Amino acid sequence: MHHEVFINTLYIISFSLMIYGLMKLTGPQTAVRGNWIAAIGMTLAFVATLLKDEMGENWLLIIAGLVVGAAVGVPAALKVKMTAMPQMVALFNGVGGGAVALIAWAEFRNTDGYAHEPKYMAIASLFAALVGSVSFWGSNVAFGKLQEILPGKPITLGKLQQPVNVLVLLGAVACGVAIAVGADSEWLMVGLLVLAALVGLFVVLPIGGADMPVVISMLNAATGLSAAAMGLALNNTALIVAGMLVGASGSILTNLMAKAMNRSIPAIVAGGFGGGGGSAGGAGGGETRPVQSTSAADAAIQMAYASNVVVVPGYGMAVAQAQHAVKEMAELLEAKGVQVSYAIHPVAGRMPGHMNVLLAEADVPYEQLKEMDEINSQFAQTDVSLVIGANDVTNPAAETNPNSPIYGMPVLKVNQSKSVIVLKRSMSSGFAGIDNELFYDSKTAMLFGDAKASVSEIVEELKQL
Ligand code: TAP
Repeated sequence: MHHEVFINTLYIISFSLMIYGLMKLTGPQTAVRGNWIAAIGMTLAFVATLLKDEMGENWLLIIAGLVVGAAVGVPAALKVKMTAMPQMVALFNGVGGGAVALIAWAEFRNTDGYAHEPKYMAIASLFAALVGSVSFWGSNVAFGKLQEILPGKPITLGKLQQPVNVLVLLGAVACGVAIAVGADSEWLMVGLLVLAALVGLFVVLPIGGADMPVVISMLNAATGLSAAAMGLALNNTALIVAGMLVGASGSILTNLMAKAMNRSIPAIVAGGFGGGGGSAGGAGGGETRPVQSTSAADAAIQMAYASNVVVVPGYGMAVAQAQHAVKEMAELLEAKGVQVSYAIHPVAGRMPGHMNVLLAEADVPYEQLKEMDEINSQFAQTDVSLVIGANDVTNPAAETNPNSPIYGMPVLKVNQSKSVIVLKRSMSSGFAGIDNELFYDSKTAMLFGDAKASVSEIVEELKQL
């Protein structure tokens, strides 16, 4: 087979594997396999690229890069806690955008400012440099906010922010246009990269912590687009296809998340929502109204004598890693004839599918997981709703209070059930930083403490009954 044809065949097989892998990522049972399949596709694309004639002696350098990248990336990915996954994705995604921007810069130098390149290649490369740099710096800010290295609160220039952003962006575009029409000063390229970096910083710094996962997904889509543009400039089909896959899936995910939170993308980019962290205090932390509290023993009795219990997991279950204890509790309840199901809100936790992944990890039967639309019609017939570290996704204010920042977000109608037990450590607010009326409802009892410790105590009590 002709060398070129062989390489293209490898590319086509690799794209098929990537797309097939992506399809498998849509369900928790097949996701791990999907990830492997896509990784094999990526490896194949890498090998095919190494086989290209123009690679020359560079393959040693490339393999050295691969080894260094794997030495940093693999241990980090193995060690990362599930709850820190969004910031990890932000960091890895940012590095992708940064790499694209650097390749565009190298390409600028290699071709004497695109002197003898077709115009479309110069434009694609400049676009890649701009978007890649925005994505790198924006993603680093997103990482910093979620890792709490930077304050989760919006950092903004106030009314000046939007005009400044537009000016800086126009500056970056102007540098690009100057290069494209023939100027070959390297300072213009550096100017473009620096101004784009400022755009990345200025756009993400004013966005509150609560919107960060959506922003990360948006930046992910941007990195994909920049990689695709770079593929166009380098005439590399693998980069175009892989970049478009990332761009398209990132855009779809961004839309799905924004929809599930009832937030528009422009409103998110305009910034200012949520304080982030959701740790002690928060905007609702000053609340002093009385609440009812309960004990593990009483909670165990209440559930053991119920005919059905709906578990409502949220971010706190992930933090506490309570999923295995929850599964054990559910089995004990089922042995007593109680029907147990799980209410899954699409944005419970901090990433899409967060609750599905955790519960799948604990081998909770898939049929017991009920999507929001299905379970919402059943809360009125539910004896006990056991809310485990969930807060915003159960907040009735989303339906009743037009002034609430989460008004309009679809929520789990937990307050319709006959009784509610809420497991959390304190009266602190959740990610959106607002108070939750559900906790003050006369049907609700709070079981304060770490979710895993509380569920384990309930398990012990159930064993005694
Ligand atoms: P949150 O509203 O963030 O509430 C989590 C609650 O868990 C907190 O109030 C906290 O209260 C409690 N908690 C934390 N650690 C705990 C522990 N060890 N044991 C027991 N409780 C613990 O979570 P949610 O209801 O899952 O809602 C998710 C939020 O994230 C929504 O606002 C959503 O819009 C936002 N968000 C999600 C996504 C995705 S894709 N999932 C994307 C963007 C934004 P204490 O501190 O009192 O314990």
